[in-house]
Amino acid sequence: MPRASLDRLSYRKLQMTDHDAFEAHLLSLDAESRRSRFGMATSDAFIRQYASRCITLNAIIHGAFLGDTLVGVAELRPIGDFFVGEAELAFSVSSEWRNCGIGTNLFARALRSARNRGFSRLYMTCLKNNAPMRGLARKFAAEIMLELDESVALVEAPRRTIVSLLREAIDDAAALTNLAFDFQKRAFLPRRSQVRPG
Ligand SMILES: CC(C)(COP(=O)(O)OP(=O)(O)OC[C@H]1O[C@@H](n2cnc3c(N)ncnc32)[C@H](O)[C@@H]1OP(=O)(O)O)[C@@H](O)C(=O)NCCC(=O)NCCS
Repeated sequence: MPRASLDRLSYRKLQMTDHDAFEAHLLSLDAESRRSRFGMATSDAFIRQYASRCITLNAIIHGAFLGDTLVGVAELRPIGDFFVGEAELAFSVSSEWRNCGIGTNLFARALRSARNRGFSRLYMTCLKNNAPMRGLARKFAAEIMLELDESVALVEAPRRTIVSLLREAIDDAAALTNLAFDFQKRAFLPRRSQVRPG
């Protein structure tokens, strides 16, 4: 992936309005990637149903966007009661965008969100032959306790700090500002182009 394209990526949390982009991203994954992501073969119908109930208030989904297109996501979802401190973690990056650090960036963001919410145990589908995901998780070995078995990875996340809280808040504020500018641009550009001189 050329450096220039990577520079055009932006990272932010998904909102309810991102449903279509989320669904399109998951549907774009090939059969092998879907198996790695969900731990089983999945049909388009399964993915559509999954996407329709996935962007919920208690899920935190970080996305890497190229314009309106999602090229990668990290999904963090509490397991059962919010206060139990356990969550599910899942990743997917579009195949043409892999091996250029997007998964690493999303992992760092999801891990920070997890520790800021007091999720200390994270479970991830991680099949034995999924070398990229296993390699990616090991890159965080200095921060997390990682246990890998045949098909699941257990991540023990560190506790939150004032720095981790502040960093997430600053990123969210920056993303919100960008969204507001983007909205303004879209709202006013067409009107301007309708104005005819004279
Ligand atoms: C796993 C996945 C999210 C990684 O995303 P990514 O954007 O390619 O990740 P990054 O580029 O940040 O890092 C990938 C790392 O894996 C390493 N890697 C890639 N292929 C590898 C392989 N065959 N063997 C060992 N390591 C490998 C890369 O070298 C890289 O490490 P590096 O930065 O030290 O070189 C992506 O491959 C994917 O979407 N796979 C399908 C879905 C999936 O498996 N999800 C995980 C289960 S929920």
